[in-house]
Amino acid sequence: MATASPTTIGVVGAGTMGRGIVQLFAQAGHTVRCHDAQPGAAAKAVEYVDGMFARAVEKGRMTAAAHEGARQRLKACDGLADLADCELVIEAIVEDLEVKRALFRELEGLLGDNAILASNTSSLTVAEIAAACQRPDRVAGLHFFNPVPLMKVAEVIAAVRTAPAVVQRLRELTEGAGHRAVVTADQPGFLINHAGRGLYTEGLRIVEEQVATPADVDDVLREALGFRMGPFELLDLTGLDVSSRVMASIYEQFQQEPRFRPSSLVAPRVAAGLFGRKSGEGWYRYVEGQQQRPPARAVPALPPALAVWVDPAASGATGLRELVVAAGARLVEDASNADLNLVMPWGNDATGTALSLGLDATRCVAVDPLPPLALRRTLMLTAVTTPAARDAAHALLANDGTAVTLINDSPGFIAQRVMATIVNIAANIAQRGIASVADLEDAVRLGLGYPQGPLGWGDQLGADRMLEVLRAQLVATGDPRYRPSAWLVRRVALGLSLTTPEAAR
Ligand SMILES: NC(=O)c1ccc[n+]([C@@H]2O[C@H](COP(=O)([O-])OP(=O)(O)OC[C@H]3O[C@@H](n4cnc5c(N)ncnc54)[C@H](O)[C@@H]3O)[C@@H](O)[C@H]2O)c1
Repeated sequence: MATASPTTIGVVGAGTMGRGIVQLFAQAGHTVRCHDAQPGAAAKAVEYVDGMFARAVEKGRMTAAAHEGARQRLKACDGLADLADCELVIEAIVEDLEVKRALFRELEGLLGDNAILASNTSSLTVAEIAAACQRPDRVAGLHFFNPVPLMKVAEVIAAVRTAPAVVQRLRELTEGAGHRAVVTADQPGFLINHAGRGLYTEGLRIVEEQVATPADVDDVLREALGFRMGPFELLDLTGLDVSSRVMASIYEQFQQEPRFRPSSLVAPRVAAGLFGRKSGEGWYRYVEGQQQRPPARAVPALPPALAVWVDPAASGATGLRELVVAAGARLVEDASNADLNLVMPWGNDATGTALSLGLDATRCVAVDPLPPLALRRTLMLTAVTTPAARDAAHALLANDGTAVTLINDSPGFIAQRVMATIVNIAANIAQRGIASVADLEDAVRLGLGYPQGPLGWGDQLGADRMLEVLRAQLVATGDPRYRPSAWLVRRVALGLSLTTPEAAR
Protein backbone atom coordinates (compact mmCIF):
# COMPACT_ATOMS: atom_id res chain seq x y z
CA MET A 1 0.00 0.00 0.00
CA ALA A 2 1.41 3.41 -0.91
CA THR A 3 0.43 6.66 0.74
CA ALA A 4 0.00 10.01 -0.98
CA SER A 5 2.93 11.46 0.95
CA PRO A 6 5.68 8.99 1.78
CA THR A 7 7.81 10.38 4.53
CA THR A 8 10.44 9.39 7.08
CA ILE A 9 9.16 8.02 10.37
CA GLY A 10 11.19 7.11 13.42
CA VAL A 11 10.11 4.51 15.96
CA VAL A 12 11.82 4.46 19.36
CA GLY A 13 11.34 1.26 21.32
CA ALA A 14 11.49 -1.98 19.34
CA GLY A 15 9.41 -4.21 21.61
CA THR A 16 5.93 -5.64 21.04
CA MET A 17 4.35 -2.37 19.95
CA GLY A 18 7.37 -0.78 18.25
CA ARG A 19 7.75 -3.75 15.90
CA GLY A 20 4.10 -3.56 14.91
CA ILE A 21 4.32 0.17 14.27
CA VAL A 22 7.47 -0.29 12.17
CA GLN A 23 5.71 -2.98 10.12
CA LEU A 24 2.61 -0.84 9.56
CA PHE A 25 4.40 2.25 8.30
CA ALA A 26 7.05 0.38 6.28
CA GLN A 27 4.28 -1.53 4.53
CA ALA A 28 2.51 1.75 3.81
CA GLY A 29 5.49 3.02 1.79
CA HIS A 30 7.29 5.17 4.35
CA THR A 31 10.97 5.21 5.21
CA VAL A 32 11.19 3.87 8.76
CA ARG A 33 14.06 4.22 11.22
CA CYS A 34 13.95 2.12 14.35
CA HIS A 35 15.95 2.65 17.52
CA ASP A 36 16.02 0.86 20.89
CA ALA A 37 18.16 1.54 23.95
CA GLN A 38 19.01 -2.13 24.22
CA PRO A 39 21.88 -2.95 21.82
CA GLY A 40 20.77 -5.23 18.99
CA ALA A 41 17.05 -4.88 19.77
CA ALA A 42 16.30 -2.57 16.83
CA ALA A 43 18.14 -4.86 14.38
CA LYS A 44 16.17 -7.81 15.73
CA ALA A 45 12.92 -5.91 15.24
CA VAL A 46 13.82 -5.04 11.65
CA GLU A 47 14.67 -8.69 11.03
CA TYR A 48 11.35 -9.71 12.54
CA VAL A 49 9.40 -7.28 10.35
CA ASP A 50 11.35 -8.45 7.29
CA GLY A 51 10.35 -12.02 8.17
CA MET A 52 6.69 -10.96 8.40
CA PHE A 53 6.94 -9.43 4.92
CA ALA A 54 8.61 -12.58 3.55
CA ARG A 55 5.69 -14.60 4.91
CA ALA A 56 3.20 -12.17 3.36
CA VAL A 57 4.95 -12.65 -0.01
CA GLU A 58 4.73 -16.44 0.36
CA LYS A 59 1.03 -16.17 1.08
CA GLY A 60 0.49 -13.86 -1.91
CA ARG A 61 -0.50 -10.90 0.25
CA MET A 62 2.51 -8.81 -0.75
CA THR A 63 4.51 -8.64 -3.98
CA ALA A 64 8.22 -9.44 -3.98
CA ALA A 65 8.84 -5.93 -5.33
CA ALA A 66 6.92 -4.35 -2.44
CA HIS A 67 8.92 -6.47 -0.02
CA GLU A 68 12.19 -5.35 -1.57
CA GLY A 69 11.07 -1.70 -1.46
CA ALA A 70 10.11 -1.98 2.21
CA ARG A 71 13.44 -3.64 3.01
CA GLN A 72 15.32 -0.76 1.38
CA ARG A 73 13.36 1.81 3.39
CA LEU A 74 13.70 0.05 6.72
CA LYS A 75 16.69 0.70 8.94
CA ALA A 76 17.80 -0.17 12.46
CA CYS A 77 19.66 2.73 14.09
CA ASP A 78 22.20 2.48 16.89
CA GLY A 79 21.84 6.08 18.00
CA LEU A 80 18.91 8.47 18.38
CA ALA A 81 20.82 11.00 16.26
CA ASP A 82 20.11 8.82 13.22
CA LEU A 83 16.47 9.84 13.55
CA ALA A 84 17.25 13.55 13.11
CA ASP A 85 15.63 13.88 9.67
CA CYS A 86 12.34 12.19 10.62
CA GLU A 87 9.11 14.09 10.08
CA LEU A 88 7.48 12.04 12.82
CA VAL A 89 8.96 10.03 15.71
CA ILE A 90 6.69 7.57 17.52
CA GLU A 91 7.78 6.54 21.00
CA ALA A 92 6.93 3.01 22.15
CA ILE A 93 9.32 2.55 25.08
CA VAL A 94 8.74 1.51 28.68
CA GLU A 95 5.57 2.95 30.33
CA ASP A 96 7.43 5.29 32.69
CA LEU A 97 6.72 9.02 32.74
CA GLU A 98 10.22 10.20 33.64
CA VAL A 99 11.91 7.92 31.08
CA LYS A 100 9.50 9.10 28.37
CA ARG A 101 9.97 12.76 29.33
CA ALA A 102 13.76 12.40 29.11
CA LEU A 103 13.47 10.82 25.66
CA PHE A 104 11.13 13.56 24.39
CA ARG A 105 13.50 16.25 25.65
CA GLU A 106 16.39 14.61 23.84
CA LEU A 107 14.38 14.12 20.65
CA GLU A 108 13.31 17.75 20.64
CA GLY A 109 16.93 18.82 20.49
CA LEU A 110 17.63 16.54 17.54
CA LEU A 111 14.62 16.89 15.28
CA GLY A 112 13.75 19.61 12.79
CA ASP A 113 11.32 22.41 13.71
CA ASN A 114 8.39 20.85 11.89
CA ALA A 115 8.81 17.33 13.24
CA ILE A 116 6.03 15.72 15.25
CA LEU A 117 6.64 13.73 18.45
CA ALA A 118 4.06 11.08 19.31
CA SER A 119 3.75 8.73 22.27
CA ASN A 120 2.13 5.30 22.21
CA THR A 121 1.46 5.50 25.96
CA SER A 122 -1.64 3.64 27.12
CA SER A 123 -2.07 5.07 30.59
CA LEU A 124 -0.03 8.26 31.02
CA THR A 125 -1.41 11.72 30.37
CA VAL A 126 0.09 12.97 27.10
CA ALA A 127 0.21 16.54 28.44
CA GLU A 128 2.58 15.39 31.18
CA ILE A 129 4.99 14.05 28.57
CA ALA A 130 4.54 17.14 26.39
CA ALA A 131 5.22 19.44 29.34
CA ALA A 132 8.84 18.30 29.27
CA CYS A 133 9.22 19.85 25.78
CA GLN A 134 9.84 23.43 24.72
CA ARG A 135 7.20 23.01 22.02
CA PRO A 136 4.31 20.97 23.47
CA ASP A 137 2.19 21.99 20.47
CA ARG A 138 3.97 19.39 18.35
CA VAL A 139 3.51 16.55 20.85
CA ALA A 140 0.52 14.19 20.66
CA GLY A 141 -0.47 10.65 21.52
CA LEU A 142 -0.69 7.99 18.82
CA HIS A 143 -2.05 4.93 20.56
CA PHE A 144 -2.04 1.64 18.67
CA PHE A 145 -3.39 -1.69 19.84
CA ASN A 146 -1.74 -5.08 19.93
CA PRO A 147 -1.18 -6.64 17.43
CA VAL A 148 -0.72 -3.39 15.53
CA PRO A 149 -1.08 -4.65 11.92
CA LEU A 150 -4.33 -6.49 12.77
CA MET A 151 -5.99 -4.01 15.12
CA LYS A 152 -7.09 -1.54 12.48
CA VAL A 153 -7.60 1.49 14.67
CA ALA A 154 -5.36 4.03 16.40
CA GLU A 155 -6.22 6.84 18.78
CA VAL A 156 -4.78 10.23 17.93
CA ILE A 157 -4.64 11.93 21.32
CA ALA A 158 -4.93 15.69 21.22
CA ALA A 159 -3.34 16.92 24.43
CA VAL A 160 -4.39 20.35 25.67
CA ARG A 161 -1.59 22.15 23.84
CA THR A 162 -1.35 19.93 20.74
CA ALA A 163 -1.71 21.96 17.52
CA PRO A 164 -4.71 21.02 15.33
CA ALA A 165 -2.34 20.62 12.33
CA VAL A 166 -0.40 17.96 14.25
CA VAL A 167 -3.61 16.03 14.96
CA GLN A 168 -4.58 16.33 11.29
CA ARG A 169 -1.18 15.10 10.06
CA LEU A 170 -1.23 12.09 12.41
CA ARG A 171 -4.72 11.28 11.22
CA GLU A 172 -3.62 11.41 7.57
CA LEU A 173 -0.54 9.25 8.15
CA THR A 174 -2.50 6.66 10.15
CA GLU A 175 -5.38 6.47 7.69
CA GLY A 176 -2.89 6.37 4.82
CA ALA A 177 -1.48 3.22 6.40
CA GLY A 178 -4.95 1.65 6.35
CA HIS A 179 -5.94 2.16 10.00
CA ARG A 180 -8.96 4.14 11.17
CA ALA A 181 -7.66 7.12 13.14
CA VAL A 182 -9.99 8.30 15.89
CA VAL A 183 -9.30 11.59 17.61
CA THR A 184 -9.65 11.69 21.36
CA ALA A 185 -9.09 14.12 24.19
CA ASP A 186 -6.23 13.46 26.61
CA GLN A 187 -8.52 11.87 29.23
CA PRO A 188 -8.07 8.71 31.32
CA GLY A 189 -8.23 5.57 29.17
CA PHE A 190 -8.46 7.91 26.15
CA LEU A 191 -11.43 6.67 24.11
CA ILE A 192 -11.32 2.91 23.70
CA ASN A 193 -10.22 1.85 27.19
CA HIS A 194 -12.73 4.31 28.63
CA ALA A 195 -15.63 3.01 26.50
CA GLY A 196 -14.64 -0.58 27.34
CA ARG A 197 -15.05 -0.14 31.12
CA GLY A 198 -18.77 -0.98 31.28
CA LEU A 199 -18.45 -4.58 30.17
CA TYR A 200 -16.12 -5.35 33.08
CA THR A 201 -17.64 -3.21 35.82
CA GLU A 202 -21.18 -4.43 35.25
CA GLY A 203 -20.17 -8.05 34.62
CA LEU A 204 -18.28 -8.05 37.91
CA ARG A 205 -21.15 -6.33 39.70
CA ILE A 206 -23.62 -8.99 38.50
CA VAL A 207 -21.36 -11.74 39.85
CA GLU A 208 -20.70 -9.82 43.07
CA GLU A 209 -24.47 -9.66 43.68
CA GLN A 210 -24.77 -13.44 43.11
CA VAL A 211 -27.18 -12.79 40.25
CA ALA A 212 -25.23 -15.10 37.93
CA THR A 213 -21.93 -16.94 37.62
CA PRO A 214 -19.04 -15.66 35.45
CA ALA A 215 -19.78 -18.40 32.89
CA ASP A 216 -23.46 -17.36 32.79
CA VAL A 217 -22.51 -13.74 32.16
CA ASP A 218 -20.05 -14.70 29.41
CA ASP A 219 -22.50 -17.11 27.73
CA VAL A 220 -25.34 -14.61 27.64
CA LEU A 221 -23.21 -11.75 26.32
CA ARG A 222 -21.53 -13.88 23.68
CA GLU A 223 -24.49 -15.92 22.45
CA ALA A 224 -27.38 -13.53 22.98
CA LEU A 225 -25.73 -10.17 22.27
CA GLY A 226 -22.91 -11.09 19.89
CA PHE A 227 -19.84 -10.07 21.92
CA ARG A 228 -16.76 -12.01 20.78
CA MET A 229 -15.92 -12.75 24.40
CA GLY A 230 -17.59 -12.11 27.71
CA PRO A 231 -15.87 -9.99 30.40
CA PHE A 232 -14.55 -12.95 32.39
CA GLU A 233 -13.08 -14.65 29.32
CA LEU A 234 -11.45 -11.34 28.43
CA LEU A 235 -10.08 -10.82 31.94
CA ASP A 236 -8.59 -14.32 31.85
CA LEU A 237 -6.97 -13.55 28.51
CA THR A 238 -5.46 -10.21 29.55
CA GLY A 239 -4.52 -11.39 33.03
CA LEU A 240 -6.29 -10.09 36.15
CA ASP A 241 -2.98 -8.74 37.50
CA VAL A 242 -2.74 -6.43 34.48
CA SER A 243 -6.48 -5.62 34.22
CA SER A 244 -6.81 -4.82 37.92
CA ARG A 245 -4.15 -2.11 37.57
CA VAL A 246 -6.00 -0.59 34.59
CA MET A 247 -9.30 -0.67 36.53
CA ALA A 248 -7.73 1.05 39.54
CA SER A 249 -5.84 3.58 37.42
CA ILE A 250 -8.88 4.73 35.41
CA TYR A 251 -10.99 4.95 38.59
CA GLU A 252 -8.36 7.08 40.33
CA GLN A 253 -7.64 9.26 37.28
CA PHE A 254 -11.38 10.01 37.03
CA GLN A 255 -11.33 11.20 40.68
CA GLN A 256 -13.02 8.04 41.95
CA GLU A 257 -15.96 8.25 39.59
CA PRO A 258 -18.44 5.59 40.89
CA ARG A 259 -19.10 4.30 37.35
CA PHE A 260 -15.54 2.96 37.29
CA ARG A 261 -15.29 1.74 40.88
CA PRO A 262 -13.36 -1.57 40.79
CA SER A 263 -15.02 -4.64 42.25
CA SER A 264 -13.93 -5.91 45.66
CA LEU A 265 -13.88 -9.38 44.10
CA VAL A 266 -10.69 -8.57 42.22
CA ALA A 267 -7.96 -7.90 44.83
CA PRO A 268 -8.28 -11.24 46.69
CA ARG A 269 -8.15 -13.12 43.41
CA VAL A 270 -5.03 -11.23 42.31
CA ALA A 271 -3.45 -11.94 45.72
CA ALA A 272 -4.26 -15.62 45.25
CA GLY A 273 -2.58 -15.68 41.84
CA LEU A 274 -5.80 -16.35 39.90
CA PHE A 275 -4.61 -14.28 36.94
CA GLY A 276 -6.23 -16.28 34.15
CA ARG A 277 -4.79 -18.29 31.27
CA LYS A 278 -1.17 -17.49 32.08
CA SER A 279 -1.42 -18.87 35.64
CA GLY A 280 -3.64 -21.84 34.71
CA GLU A 281 -6.61 -20.53 36.66
CA GLY A 282 -8.67 -17.38 36.72
CA TRP A 283 -12.42 -17.17 36.44
CA TYR A 284 -12.04 -20.48 34.59
CA ARG A 285 -9.54 -23.30 34.98
CA TYR A 286 -7.19 -24.16 32.11
CA VAL A 287 -5.86 -27.63 31.43
CA GLU A 288 -3.13 -27.74 28.76
CA GLY A 289 -4.31 -24.31 27.61
CA GLN A 290 -7.92 -25.44 27.23
CA GLN A 291 -10.55 -23.52 29.11
CA GLN A 292 -12.64 -25.78 31.35
CA ARG A 293 -16.31 -24.75 31.22
CA PRO A 294 -18.68 -25.65 34.02
CA PRO A 295 -21.12 -28.34 32.84
CA ALA A 296 -24.41 -27.00 31.49
CA ARG A 297 -27.37 -27.49 33.79
CA ALA A 298 -29.41 -30.53 32.68
CA VAL A 299 -32.75 -29.70 31.08
CA PRO A 300 -35.58 -31.06 33.23
CA ALA A 301 -38.51 -33.00 31.75
CA LEU A 302 -41.48 -30.92 30.69
CA PRO A 303 -44.32 -31.59 33.14
CA PRO A 304 -47.44 -33.03 31.46
CA ALA A 305 -50.47 -30.77 30.99
CA LEU A 306 -48.55 -27.67 32.06
CA ALA A 307 -50.80 -24.60 32.29
CA VAL A 308 -48.95 -21.35 31.53
CA TRP A 309 -49.94 -17.70 31.77
CA VAL A 310 -47.96 -15.16 29.76
CA ASP A 311 -48.20 -11.47 30.66
CA PRO A 312 -50.18 -10.12 27.68
CA ALA A 313 -48.68 -6.64 28.11
CA ALA A 314 -45.08 -7.89 27.72
CA SER A 315 -43.28 -6.61 24.60
CA GLY A 316 -42.33 -10.15 23.53
CA ALA A 317 -45.61 -11.81 24.59
CA THR A 318 -46.55 -13.08 21.12
CA GLY A 319 -43.26 -14.91 20.57
CA LEU A 320 -43.33 -16.35 24.06
CA ARG A 321 -46.92 -17.59 23.67
CA GLU A 322 -45.93 -19.29 20.41
CA LEU A 323 -43.07 -21.07 22.19
CA VAL A 324 -45.41 -22.25 24.95
CA VAL A 325 -47.88 -23.68 22.43
CA ALA A 326 -45.12 -25.25 20.27
CA ALA A 327 -43.78 -27.06 23.36
CA GLY A 328 -47.23 -28.60 23.93
CA ALA A 329 -48.12 -26.64 27.07
CA ARG A 330 -51.53 -25.03 27.58
CA LEU A 331 -52.02 -21.27 27.60
CA VAL A 332 -54.48 -19.95 30.16
CA GLU A 333 -55.96 -16.46 30.45
CA ASP A 334 -56.17 -16.34 34.24
CA ALA A 335 -52.78 -16.26 35.99
CA SER A 336 -54.19 -17.79 39.17
CA ASN A 337 -55.19 -20.95 37.21
CA ALA A 338 -51.68 -21.43 35.80
CA ASP A 339 -48.83 -23.62 37.11
CA LEU A 340 -46.40 -21.06 35.74
CA ASN A 341 -46.59 -17.28 35.22
CA LEU A 342 -44.18 -15.84 32.67
CA VAL A 343 -43.35 -12.13 32.62
CA MET A 344 -40.90 -10.15 30.48
CA PRO A 345 -39.83 -6.99 32.32
CA TRP A 346 -37.60 -4.17 31.14
CA GLY A 347 -35.67 -2.61 33.98
CA ASN A 348 -37.59 -4.36 36.70
CA ASP A 349 -36.86 -7.50 38.68
CA ALA A 350 -39.04 -10.61 38.81
CA THR A 351 -40.27 -9.82 42.34
CA GLY A 352 -41.32 -6.26 41.53
CA THR A 353 -43.00 -7.39 38.32
CA ALA A 354 -44.90 -10.23 40.03
CA LEU A 355 -46.11 -7.98 42.83
CA SER A 356 -47.11 -5.13 40.52
CA LEU A 357 -49.20 -7.54 38.42
CA GLY A 358 -50.74 -9.19 41.51
CA LEU A 359 -49.13 -12.56 40.67
CA ASP A 360 -48.10 -15.35 43.02
CA ALA A 361 -44.30 -14.90 43.19
CA THR A 362 -43.76 -18.62 43.88
CA ARG A 363 -45.01 -19.45 40.39
CA CYS A 364 -43.41 -16.51 38.62
CA VAL A 365 -40.42 -16.66 36.26
CA ALA A 366 -39.16 -13.68 34.22
CA VAL A 367 -37.83 -14.09 30.68
CA ASP A 368 -35.40 -11.44 29.33
CA PRO A 369 -37.10 -9.65 26.42
CA LEU A 370 -33.85 -8.08 25.20
CA PRO A 371 -32.20 -10.73 23.03
CA PRO A 372 -34.33 -12.27 20.28
CA LEU A 373 -36.05 -15.37 21.67
CA ALA A 374 -34.27 -17.50 19.07
CA LEU A 375 -30.97 -16.93 20.92
CA ARG A 376 -29.87 -18.04 24.41
CA ARG A 377 -32.75 -17.32 26.80
CA THR A 378 -32.28 -15.91 30.28
CA LEU A 379 -34.79 -16.86 32.98
CA MET A 380 -34.86 -14.91 36.24
CA LEU A 381 -36.35 -16.25 39.46
CA THR A 382 -37.83 -14.51 42.48
CA ALA A 383 -36.42 -15.49 45.88
CA VAL A 384 -39.48 -17.73 46.36
CA THR A 385 -39.99 -19.24 42.90
CA THR A 386 -40.53 -22.96 43.58
CA PRO A 387 -38.20 -25.58 42.08
CA ALA A 388 -41.25 -26.95 40.23
CA ALA A 389 -41.98 -23.59 38.56
CA ARG A 390 -38.26 -23.07 37.84
CA ASP A 391 -37.90 -26.52 36.21
CA ALA A 392 -41.14 -26.14 34.25
CA ALA A 393 -39.94 -22.80 32.83
CA HIS A 394 -36.51 -24.24 32.03
CA ALA A 395 -38.02 -27.28 30.27
CA LEU A 396 -40.49 -25.13 28.35
CA LEU A 397 -37.96 -22.57 27.12
CA ALA A 398 -35.33 -25.21 26.25
CA ASN A 399 -37.85 -27.47 24.49
CA ASP A 400 -36.75 -26.40 20.97
CA GLY A 401 -33.07 -26.97 21.78
CA THR A 402 -32.23 -23.33 22.60
CA ALA A 403 -29.82 -22.85 25.51
CA VAL A 404 -31.22 -21.42 28.73
CA THR A 405 -29.48 -19.52 31.54
CA LEU A 406 -31.09 -19.33 34.99
CA ILE A 407 -30.26 -16.32 37.13
CA ASN A 408 -31.30 -14.74 40.42
CA ASP A 409 -33.48 -11.69 40.70
CA SER A 410 -32.11 -8.36 39.46
CA PRO A 411 -33.63 -5.37 37.69
CA GLY A 412 -32.39 -5.73 34.13
CA PHE A 413 -31.20 -9.35 33.92
CA ILE A 414 -27.60 -9.69 32.54
CA ALA A 415 -27.95 -8.35 29.00
CA GLN A 416 -30.05 -5.29 29.87
CA ARG A 417 -27.74 -4.28 32.71
CA VAL A 418 -24.53 -4.62 30.72
CA MET A 419 -25.94 -2.87 27.66
CA ALA A 420 -27.41 0.00 29.70
CA THR A 421 -24.03 0.49 31.40
CA ILE A 422 -22.11 0.46 28.10
CA VAL A 423 -24.57 2.89 26.51
CA ASN A 424 -24.46 5.18 29.56
CA ILE A 425 -20.66 5.38 29.55
CA ALA A 426 -20.67 6.04 25.79
CA ALA A 427 -23.31 8.76 26.22
CA ASN A 428 -21.13 10.38 28.85
CA ILE A 429 -18.09 10.23 26.55
CA ALA A 430 -20.18 12.08 23.95
CA GLN A 431 -21.46 14.53 26.59
CA ARG A 432 -17.89 15.35 27.64
CA GLY A 433 -16.75 15.80 24.04
CA ILE A 434 -13.95 13.28 24.48
CA ALA A 435 -14.50 12.21 20.88
CA SER A 436 -16.97 12.77 18.07
CA VAL A 437 -19.89 10.34 17.87
CA ALA A 438 -18.55 8.91 14.59
CA ASP A 439 -15.10 8.31 16.07
CA LEU A 440 -16.57 6.79 19.23
CA GLU A 441 -18.78 4.38 17.29
CA ASP A 442 -15.95 3.18 15.02
CA ALA A 443 -13.40 3.02 17.85
CA VAL A 444 -15.59 0.68 19.87
CA ARG A 445 -16.26 -1.64 16.92
CA LEU A 446 -12.65 -1.77 15.78
CA GLY A 447 -10.81 -1.46 19.08
CA LEU A 448 -13.08 -3.52 21.31
CA GLY A 449 -14.56 -5.78 18.63
CA TYR A 450 -18.17 -5.07 19.71
CA PRO A 451 -20.72 -5.93 17.03
CA GLN A 452 -21.96 -2.32 16.92
CA GLY A 453 -21.02 1.13 18.14
CA PRO A 454 -22.55 1.75 21.59
CA LEU A 455 -24.76 4.72 20.76
CA GLY A 456 -26.23 3.19 17.60
CA TRP A 457 -26.70 -0.04 19.52
CA GLY A 458 -28.49 1.85 22.29
CA ASP A 459 -30.83 3.37 19.69
CA GLN A 460 -31.54 -0.04 18.28
CA LEU A 461 -32.35 -1.54 21.69
CA GLY A 462 -34.32 1.56 22.67
CA ALA A 463 -32.65 4.49 24.39
CA ASP A 464 -35.74 4.85 26.59
CA ARG A 465 -35.33 1.25 27.73
CA MET A 466 -31.64 1.74 28.50
CA LEU A 467 -32.65 4.73 30.64
CA GLU A 468 -35.37 2.67 32.33
CA VAL A 469 -32.83 -0.02 33.30
CA LEU A 470 -30.40 2.55 34.71
CA ARG A 471 -33.11 4.27 36.73
CA ALA A 472 -34.34 0.93 38.10
CA GLN A 473 -30.81 -0.01 39.13
CA LEU A 474 -30.29 3.40 40.71
CA VAL A 475 -33.49 2.99 42.76
CA ALA A 476 -32.73 -0.64 43.69
CA THR A 477 -29.15 -0.03 44.79
CA GLY A 478 -28.88 3.71 45.50
CA ASP A 479 -25.48 3.47 43.83
CA PRO A 480 -24.54 6.62 41.85
CA ARG A 481 -22.68 4.46 39.32
CA TYR A 482 -26.11 3.99 37.71
CA ARG A 483 -26.98 7.69 37.40
CA PRO A 484 -27.89 8.27 33.78
CA SER A 485 -25.81 10.58 31.62
CA ALA A 486 -27.44 13.89 30.76
CA TRP A 487 -26.82 13.07 27.06
CA LEU A 488 -29.01 9.97 27.38
CA VAL A 489 -31.71 11.68 29.48
CA ARG A 490 -32.07 14.62 27.08
CA ARG A 491 -32.12 12.54 23.92
CA VAL A 492 -34.79 10.25 25.34
CA ALA A 493 -36.83 13.28 26.46
CA LEU A 494 -36.57 14.82 22.99
CA GLY A 495 -37.09 11.54 21.12
CA LEU A 496 -33.70 11.98 19.43
CA SER A 497 -31.22 9.34 18.31
CA LEU A 498 -28.30 8.91 20.71
CA THR A 499 -25.96 9.58 17.80
CA THR A 500 -27.33 13.11 17.33
CA PRO A 501 -24.52 15.57 18.13
CA GLU A 502 -25.15 18.74 20.13
CA ALA A 503 -26.57 21.58 18.07
CA ALA A 504 -23.95 24.00 16.75
CA ARG A 505 -23.57 27.08 18.93
N1 LIG B 1 1.78 -4.16 24.79
C1 LIG B 1 0.60 -3.63 24.54
O1 LIG B 1 -0.41 -4.34 24.39
C2 LIG B 1 0.46 -2.13 24.42
C3 LIG B 1 -0.67 -1.60 23.76
C4 LIG B 1 -0.77 -0.23 23.58
C5 LIG B 1 0.21 0.61 24.07
N2 LIG B 1 1.29 0.07 24.74
C6 LIG B 1 2.32 1.03 25.20
O2 LIG B 1 3.40 0.99 24.27
C7 LIG B 1 4.64 1.21 24.95
C8 LIG B 1 5.57 0.03 24.69
O3 LIG B 1 4.98 -1.14 25.11
P1 LIG B 1 5.51 -2.59 24.66
O4 LIG B 1 4.49 -3.57 25.11
O5 LIG B 1 5.90 -2.55 23.23
O6 LIG B 1 6.81 -2.72 25.58
P2 LIG B 1 8.08 -3.70 25.38
O7 LIG B 1 8.61 -3.93 26.75
O8 LIG B 1 7.71 -4.88 24.56
O9 LIG B 1 9.11 -2.81 24.56
C9 LIG B 1 9.68 -1.64 25.05
C10 LIG B 1 11.03 -1.44 24.36
O10 LIG B 1 11.50 -0.14 24.67
C11 LIG B 1 12.91 -0.21 24.90
N3 LIG B 1 13.28 0.95 25.71
C12 LIG B 1 13.05 1.14 27.03
N4 LIG B 1 13.50 2.36 27.39
C13 LIG B 1 14.04 2.94 26.28
C14 LIG B 1 14.63 4.21 26.01
N5 LIG B 1 14.76 5.11 26.96
N6 LIG B 1 15.02 4.47 24.76
C15 LIG B 1 14.88 3.55 23.77
N7 LIG B 1 14.31 2.34 23.97
C16 LIG B 1 13.89 2.04 25.21
C17 LIG B 1 13.13 -1.55 25.56
O11 LIG B 1 14.45 -1.99 25.39
C18 LIG B 1 12.12 -2.42 24.81
O12 LIG B 1 12.67 -3.04 23.68
C19 LIG B 1 4.29 1.44 26.41
O13 LIG B 1 4.13 2.81 26.62
C20 LIG B 1 2.94 0.72 26.55
O14 LIG B 1 2.16 1.25 27.60
C21 LIG B 1 1.44 -1.27 24.91
